[in-house]
Parts: sequence; structure tokens; C-alpha cells
Amino acid sequence: MIKLENISKIYKFDDVVIEALKDVSLTIEKGEFVAIMGASGSGKSTLLNIIGCMDTATSGTYTLDNDVISKLNSNGLSKIRNSKITFVFQNFALMEKYTAYENIELPLVNRKVSFAERRKRVSEIAKQLGIEAQLDKLPKQMSGGQQQRIALARALVSGADIILADEPTGALDQKTGIELMELLRNLNKDGKTIILVTHDPIVASYAKRIITILDGRISQ
Ligand SMILES: Nc1ncnc2c1ncn2[C@@H]1O[C@H](COP(=O)(O)OP(=O)(O)O)[C@@H](O)[C@H]1O
Ligand SMILES: [Mg+2]
Repeated sequence: MIKLENISKIYKFDDVVIEALKDVSLTIEKGEFVAIMGASGSGKSTLLNIIGCMDTATSGTYTLDNDVISKLNSNGLSKIRNSKITFVFQNFALMEKYTAYENIELPLVNRKVSFAERRKRVSEIAKQLGIEAQLDKLPKQMSGGQQQRIALARALVSGADIILADEPTGALDQKTGIELMELLRNLNKDGKTIILVTHDPIVASYAKRIITILDGRISQ
């Protein structure tokens, strides 16, 4: 379970101070499918990055399962990131010189998983997402929708239970975006917790709960 209590985030540079999140309290249960909506600059990515242990709050308490995340140092944060949380980004963030297969297995290589086990895990995920025919291709040889499926496979391969997606359909046409949402819906049915940032109401309609954020505060 994700529990944020009175989370604030302040960015300071020179004499400019931006309060990106103001006293945000929010609980997300295991297995939920939540969409975060709001105008550009309202704090959606900041919130997602804090939940994903990519960034820390300026004040407030963040608890994930039984760990008080807001007390962890960067080492502790990266342990949580490596075991429980995975990200999908708008621009796919694939390695251009690596094939789809190599991109997907990368998190397992980093974790020193054996060659045979990597092969098994990649082929399972590839089958699940319908991307077996793409595995030998480079990112530039694939469509946007195919690249985003590869990125999703890479996100899933290490077995994390929480999937965070920041505008995952933002670079896709509507039909391809909806196909991605169908995949996410199936993953949620299989028990994954999904938190997704979007400003597209059709994309958000796939979630079971919509959180609206306005000027750094949850408004709905
Ligand atoms: N690394 C940063 N340094 C300074 N200001 C930032 C940084 N990241 C975000 N901001 C500011 O915080 C506010 C919220 O940004 P963000 O969370 O990216 O909004 P959204 O994802 O909803 O568009 C914006 O005013 C943005 O300019
Ligand atoms: Mg953003």
C-alpha cells in the first residue's frame, strides 16, 4: 500500500521558489488502477516521481508497505526502486543501439540474472504482450506502439508489482494508445498496481479511480 501524508515538494533555484506539491495526502491500495489528471505544470510528474522513489519530498511522510520511504537515503530508495516499482515513459526511453530483446533483458543483466533465466523471462513477457516478432529489431525499425510495448516488457521483466506510467500514450496515435491501455488493464487484472499520468480523458477512463491535481493540490 502507498500512503502519502502531507507531502510537499519545493524546488528552489536562485531566488525562484516553486511549490510543486502542497500538502498532498493520498492512499493507493495494492491492485488499484489510478489515473492522475491535471493541467501541464500542476505537479503530476513530481507526484509520480516521488511515489516511484525517483525523487524525495521536501516534507511529509511517504510509506510504502511497511517502509517509511521518506526516511530512506539514496541507497535505500534505489533498493525499493529495484524491487517493487517500475516506470514507463512517454518517449519509451529505449536504448537505440540495442535490439528489442536486449532492451527488455537489460534490467535482468544489471541484476546479474543468468543467461538461461533471462531468456525464459523475456520470452514469457514477449508472448504475453504479443511482441515475439519484434525481438530482433532495433527501436528505429519499430512503430511507436511497438516501441512502447518493448518499453512495457522491459518494465515488467523484473517482476515489480507497481507500474508507474507518465503520459505513456502521449507519443502514440489514439488507436495504438488504446491498445496499450488494454494491455495495462489486463496487467491490472493480473494484480499489478498501476498509476498513470495523463491528460487524455479516454486514457483515464481505463483507470478505476481518477485523481485530479490542480496547482500542486489534489482537488478531486
Ligand atoms: N527539477 C525541477 N526543477 C525546478 N522546477 C521544477 C522541476 N520539476 C518540475 N518543476 C516545476 O514544478 C511544477 C510541477 O511540474 P511537473 O510535476 O513536471 O508538472 P506536470 O507533470 O503536471 O506537468 C512546475 O511549475 C515545474 O516547472
Ligand atoms: Mg509531467
